[in-house]
Amino acid sequence: MNSEPGVDTADFAKAWSYADCVPGWLTRDQAVALWDAVRRLGKGARVVEIGSHQGRSTIVLGFAARSVGVTVTAIDPFVDGKLFGGSVTRQRFERNIATARLDDVVELVVGYSTKLRPEWGDSIDLLYIDGKHDYWTYTDDLKWSAHLPSGGEILVHDCFSSVGVTSGTLIKVFTGSKYTYLDRAGSLARFALRRPGRRDRLRLLAQMPWFLRNVWLKVLLRLRLRPVARLFGHDSPYDPY
Ligand SMILES: C[S@@+](CC[C@H](N)C(=O)[O-])C[C@H]1O[C@@H](n2cnc3c(N)ncnc32)[C@H](O)[C@@H]1O
Repeated sequence: MNSEPGVDTADFAKAWSYADCVPGWLTRDQAVALWDAVRRLGKGARVVEIGSHQGRSTIVLGFAARSVGVTVTAIDPFVDGKLFGGSVTRQRFERNIATARLDDVVELVVGYSTKLRPEWGDSIDLLYIDGKHDYWTYTDDLKWSAHLPSGGEILVHDCFSSVGVTSGTLIKVFTGSKYTYLDRAGSLARFALRRPGRRDRLRLLAQMPWFLRNVWLKVLLRLRLRPVARLFGHDSPYDPY
Protein backbone atom coordinates (compact mmCIF):
# COMPACT_ATOMS: atom_id res chain seq x y z
CA MET A 1 0.00 0.00 0.00
CA ASN A 2 1.23 3.51 -0.80
CA SER A 3 2.62 5.21 2.32
CA GLU A 4 2.04 8.76 1.09
CA PRO A 5 -1.44 10.20 0.74
CA GLY A 6 -2.51 10.36 -2.88
CA VAL A 7 -3.55 13.99 -2.71
CA ASP A 8 -3.27 17.08 -0.55
CA THR A 9 -0.23 16.09 1.45
CA ALA A 10 -0.41 19.36 3.43
CA ASP A 11 -3.99 18.61 4.51
CA PHE A 12 -2.98 15.12 5.60
CA ALA A 13 -0.04 16.54 7.56
CA LYS A 14 -2.42 18.82 9.45
CA ALA A 15 -4.78 15.92 10.23
CA TRP A 16 -1.89 13.75 11.38
CA SER A 17 -0.48 16.53 13.57
CA TYR A 18 -3.74 16.45 15.57
CA ALA A 19 -4.17 12.66 15.49
CA ASP A 20 -0.60 11.92 16.50
CA CYS A 21 -1.11 13.82 19.78
CA VAL A 22 -3.82 11.32 20.73
CA PRO A 23 -2.76 8.02 22.31
CA GLY A 24 -3.74 4.98 20.26
CA TRP A 25 -2.47 2.30 17.94
CA LEU A 26 -2.83 3.77 14.45
CA THR A 27 0.48 4.24 12.61
CA ARG A 28 1.12 7.01 10.10
CA ASP A 29 1.02 4.58 7.16
CA GLN A 30 -2.32 3.29 8.39
CA ALA A 31 -3.58 6.86 8.75
CA VAL A 32 -2.67 7.40 5.09
CA ALA A 33 -4.75 4.33 4.16
CA LEU A 34 -7.77 5.72 6.06
CA TRP A 35 -7.23 9.16 4.55
CA ASP A 36 -7.10 7.86 0.99
CA ALA A 37 -10.14 5.62 1.48
CA VAL A 38 -12.26 8.57 2.64
CA ARG A 39 -10.94 10.78 -0.14
CA ARG A 40 -12.23 8.28 -2.70
CA LEU A 41 -15.80 8.88 -1.47
CA GLY A 42 -18.28 11.28 -3.02
CA LYS A 43 -19.91 14.25 -1.33
CA GLY A 44 -22.65 13.31 1.15
CA ALA A 45 -21.20 9.86 1.89
CA ARG A 46 -21.07 8.34 5.36
CA VAL A 47 -18.17 6.63 7.09
CA VAL A 48 -18.85 4.30 10.03
CA GLU A 49 -16.03 3.67 12.47
CA ILE A 50 -16.40 0.86 15.00
CA GLY A 51 -14.05 1.40 17.96
CA SER A 52 -12.89 5.00 18.39
CA HIS A 53 -11.15 5.03 21.78
CA GLN A 54 -9.66 8.52 22.29
CA GLY A 55 -10.20 9.49 18.65
CA ARG A 56 -6.79 8.95 17.01
CA SER A 57 -8.24 7.31 13.89
CA THR A 58 -11.49 9.33 14.10
CA ILE A 59 -9.51 12.55 13.69
CA VAL A 60 -7.87 11.29 10.48
CA LEU A 61 -11.23 10.12 9.14
CA GLY A 62 -12.80 13.43 10.22
CA PHE A 63 -10.29 15.70 8.49
CA ALA A 64 -10.47 13.62 5.30
CA ALA A 65 -14.27 13.62 5.54
CA ARG A 66 -14.46 17.39 5.87
CA SER A 67 -12.29 17.84 2.79
CA VAL A 68 -14.75 15.92 0.59
CA GLY A 69 -18.08 16.72 2.28
CA VAL A 70 -18.51 13.39 4.06
CA THR A 71 -19.65 12.59 7.63
CA VAL A 72 -18.25 10.12 10.16
CA THR A 73 -20.30 8.10 12.64
CA ALA A 74 -18.03 6.91 15.45
CA ILE A 75 -19.33 3.98 17.50
CA ASP A 76 -17.84 3.05 20.88
CA PRO A 77 -19.44 1.88 24.13
CA PHE A 78 -16.43 3.24 26.09
CA VAL A 79 -15.97 -0.01 27.90
CA ASP A 80 -14.85 0.29 31.53
CA GLY A 81 -11.59 -1.36 32.47
CA LYS A 82 -7.85 -0.89 32.58
CA LEU A 83 -7.20 -1.15 28.84
CA PHE A 84 -9.84 1.18 27.42
CA GLY A 85 -10.70 3.42 30.37
CA GLY A 86 -14.51 3.89 30.19
CA SER A 87 -16.02 7.34 30.79
CA VAL A 88 -12.62 9.03 31.09
CA THR A 89 -11.84 7.82 27.55
CA ARG A 90 -15.18 9.20 26.36
CA GLN A 91 -14.33 12.62 27.81
CA ARG A 92 -10.93 12.49 26.10
CA PHE A 93 -12.54 11.47 22.80
CA GLU A 94 -14.95 14.42 22.99
CA ARG A 95 -12.18 16.82 23.96
CA ASN A 96 -9.89 15.59 21.15
CA ILE A 97 -12.62 15.91 18.52
CA ALA A 98 -13.46 19.41 19.79
CA THR A 99 -9.78 20.44 19.77
CA ALA A 100 -9.55 19.33 16.13
CA ARG A 101 -12.80 21.28 15.48
CA LEU A 102 -14.45 18.23 13.99
CA ASP A 103 -17.73 18.28 15.99
CA ASP A 104 -19.74 19.13 12.88
CA VAL A 105 -18.25 16.21 10.89
CA VAL A 106 -18.06 13.48 13.54
CA GLU A 107 -21.16 12.10 15.22
CA LEU A 108 -20.53 9.94 18.29
CA VAL A 109 -22.87 7.01 18.96
CA VAL A 110 -22.19 5.48 22.36
CA GLY A 111 -23.01 1.77 22.28
CA TYR A 112 -21.89 -1.70 21.30
CA SER A 113 -21.61 -2.25 17.55
CA THR A 114 -23.23 -5.67 17.95
CA LYS A 115 -26.29 -4.18 19.70
CA LEU A 116 -26.62 -1.23 17.33
CA ARG A 117 -26.26 -3.25 14.10
CA PRO A 118 -29.69 -4.93 14.00
CA GLU A 119 -31.38 -1.51 14.43
CA TRP A 120 -29.19 0.33 11.91
CA GLY A 121 -31.15 1.54 8.86
CA ASP A 122 -28.86 4.00 7.04
CA SER A 123 -26.57 3.35 4.12
CA ILE A 124 -22.80 3.38 4.69
CA ASP A 125 -20.09 4.17 2.14
CA LEU A 126 -16.96 3.18 4.07
CA LEU A 127 -16.63 0.86 7.06
CA TYR A 128 -13.67 0.97 9.43
CA ILE A 129 -13.53 -1.84 12.00
CA ASP A 130 -11.34 -1.46 15.09
CA GLY A 131 -13.63 -2.53 17.94
CA LYS A 132 -13.50 -5.66 20.08
CA HIS A 133 -11.02 -8.09 18.58
CA ASP A 134 -12.59 -11.45 19.43
CA TYR A 135 -13.81 -13.69 16.61
CA TRP A 136 -17.53 -13.28 17.37
CA THR A 137 -17.59 -9.49 17.66
CA TYR A 138 -15.36 -9.01 14.63
CA THR A 139 -17.38 -11.30 12.39
CA ASP A 140 -20.55 -9.57 13.57
CA ASP A 141 -18.93 -6.21 12.77
CA LEU A 142 -18.27 -7.43 9.23
CA LYS A 143 -22.06 -7.74 8.85
CA TRP A 144 -22.30 -3.92 8.91
CA SER A 145 -21.11 -4.29 5.31
CA ALA A 146 -24.72 -5.17 4.43
CA HIS A 147 -25.21 -1.39 4.32
CA LEU A 148 -22.32 -0.77 1.89
CA PRO A 149 -22.77 -0.46 -1.87
CA SER A 150 -21.32 -3.24 -4.00
CA GLY A 151 -17.57 -2.66 -4.24
CA GLY A 152 -17.58 -0.53 -1.06
CA GLU A 153 -14.46 -0.62 1.09
CA ILE A 154 -13.97 -2.14 4.53
CA LEU A 155 -10.80 -1.38 6.46
CA VAL A 156 -9.86 -3.58 9.40
CA HIS A 157 -7.23 -2.73 12.01
CA ASP A 158 -5.19 -5.58 13.58
CA CYS A 159 -6.34 -7.83 10.77
CA PHE A 160 -3.05 -9.76 10.85
CA SER A 161 -1.99 -9.27 14.46
CA SER A 162 -4.91 -10.58 16.51
CA VAL A 163 -5.90 -14.25 16.64
CA GLY A 164 -9.62 -13.38 16.81
CA VAL A 165 -9.55 -10.98 13.86
CA THR A 166 -7.23 -13.10 11.71
CA SER A 167 -9.26 -16.27 12.26
CA GLY A 168 -12.45 -14.33 11.47
CA THR A 169 -10.82 -13.05 8.30
CA LEU A 170 -9.74 -16.53 7.23
CA ILE A 171 -13.21 -17.92 7.73
CA LYS A 172 -15.28 -15.04 6.36
CA VAL A 173 -12.95 -13.74 3.66
CA PHE A 174 -10.72 -16.63 2.60
CA THR A 175 -13.42 -19.31 2.64
CA GLY A 176 -16.32 -16.90 2.02
CA SER A 177 -17.59 -15.30 -1.17
CA LYS A 178 -18.40 -11.70 -0.17
CA TYR A 179 -15.10 -9.92 0.44
CA THR A 180 -12.01 -9.38 -1.68
CA TYR A 181 -8.69 -8.66 -0.01
CA LEU A 182 -7.03 -5.61 -1.60
CA ASP A 183 -3.90 -4.69 0.38
CA ARG A 184 -2.63 -3.71 3.82
CA ALA A 185 -0.64 -1.07 5.71
CA GLY A 186 1.02 -3.02 8.50
CA SER A 187 -1.88 -4.99 9.93
CA LEU A 188 -4.58 -2.62 8.68
CA ALA A 189 -6.19 -4.50 5.82
CA ARG A 190 -8.41 -3.19 3.06
CA PHE A 191 -11.21 -5.25 1.56
CA ALA A 192 -13.82 -4.58 -1.10
CA LEU A 193 -17.36 -5.86 -0.94
CA ARG A 194 -17.23 -8.08 -4.02
CA ARG A 195 -16.79 -11.75 -4.81
CA PRO A 196 -13.10 -12.74 -4.65
CA GLY A 197 -11.31 -14.69 -7.36
CA ARG A 198 -8.82 -17.49 -6.76
CA ARG A 199 -5.87 -15.10 -6.93
CA ASP A 200 -7.48 -12.76 -4.38
CA ARG A 201 -7.83 -15.65 -1.96
CA LEU A 202 -4.22 -16.66 -2.50
CA ARG A 203 -3.04 -13.09 -1.91
CA LEU A 204 -4.85 -13.13 1.42
CA LEU A 205 -3.28 -16.46 2.33
CA ALA A 206 0.13 -15.02 1.48
CA GLN A 207 -0.27 -12.61 4.44
CA MET A 208 -0.22 -15.49 6.94
CA PRO A 209 3.58 -15.49 7.44
CA TRP A 210 3.22 -11.82 8.43
CA PHE A 211 0.50 -12.80 10.94
CA LEU A 212 2.65 -15.63 12.38
CA ARG A 213 5.57 -13.22 12.74
CA ASN A 214 3.34 -10.83 14.69
CA VAL A 215 2.06 -13.57 17.01
CA TRP A 216 5.63 -14.71 17.59
CA LEU A 217 6.67 -11.13 18.47
CA LYS A 218 3.74 -10.84 20.89
CA VAL A 219 4.87 -14.04 22.63
CA LEU A 220 8.43 -12.68 22.91
CA LEU A 221 7.14 -9.39 24.36
CA ARG A 222 4.95 -11.24 26.91
CA LEU A 223 8.06 -13.20 27.93
CA ARG A 224 9.92 -9.86 28.27
CA LEU A 225 12.36 -10.93 25.55
CA ARG A 226 12.55 -7.56 23.82
CA PRO A 227 16.17 -8.02 22.67
CA VAL A 228 15.08 -11.21 20.86
CA ALA A 229 12.13 -9.36 19.31
CA ARG A 230 14.63 -6.77 18.10
CA LEU A 231 16.46 -9.52 16.23
CA PHE A 232 13.21 -10.07 14.31
CA GLY A 233 13.09 -6.37 13.37
CA HIS A 234 10.63 -5.24 16.08
CA ASP A 235 12.21 -2.41 18.08
CA SER A 236 9.27 -1.34 20.24
CA PRO A 237 7.88 -2.28 23.68
CA TYR A 238 4.41 -2.40 22.09
CA ASP A 239 2.72 -5.22 20.21
CA PRO A 240 3.10 -5.13 16.44
CA TYR A 241 0.04 -3.89 14.60
C1 LIG B 1 -8.23 -0.60 19.72
S1 LIG B 1 -9.36 0.52 20.36
C2 LIG B 1 -9.75 1.57 19.01
C3 LIG B 1 -8.62 2.46 18.67
C4 LIG B 1 -8.97 3.63 17.78
N1 LIG B 1 -9.52 3.23 16.51
C5 LIG B 1 -7.72 4.50 17.60
O1 LIG B 1 -7.29 4.73 16.46
O2 LIG B 1 -7.15 4.92 18.61
C6 LIG B 1 -10.79 -0.47 20.52
C7 LIG B 1 -12.03 0.30 20.96
O3 LIG B 1 -13.14 -0.56 20.70
C8 LIG B 1 -14.10 -0.30 21.66
N2 LIG B 1 -15.05 -1.41 21.64
C9 LIG B 1 -15.02 -2.57 22.33
N3 LIG B 1 -16.11 -3.31 22.03
C10 LIG B 1 -16.80 -2.60 21.11
C11 LIG B 1 -18.01 -2.80 20.39
N4 LIG B 1 -18.72 -3.92 20.52
N5 LIG B 1 -18.44 -1.84 19.54
C12 LIG B 1 -17.73 -0.71 19.34
N6 LIG B 1 -16.57 -0.46 19.98
C13 LIG B 1 -16.12 -1.39 20.84
C14 LIG B 1 -13.32 -0.10 22.94
O4 LIG B 1 -14.09 0.64 23.88
C15 LIG B 1 -12.10 0.64 22.44
O5 LIG B 1 -12.25 2.03 22.60
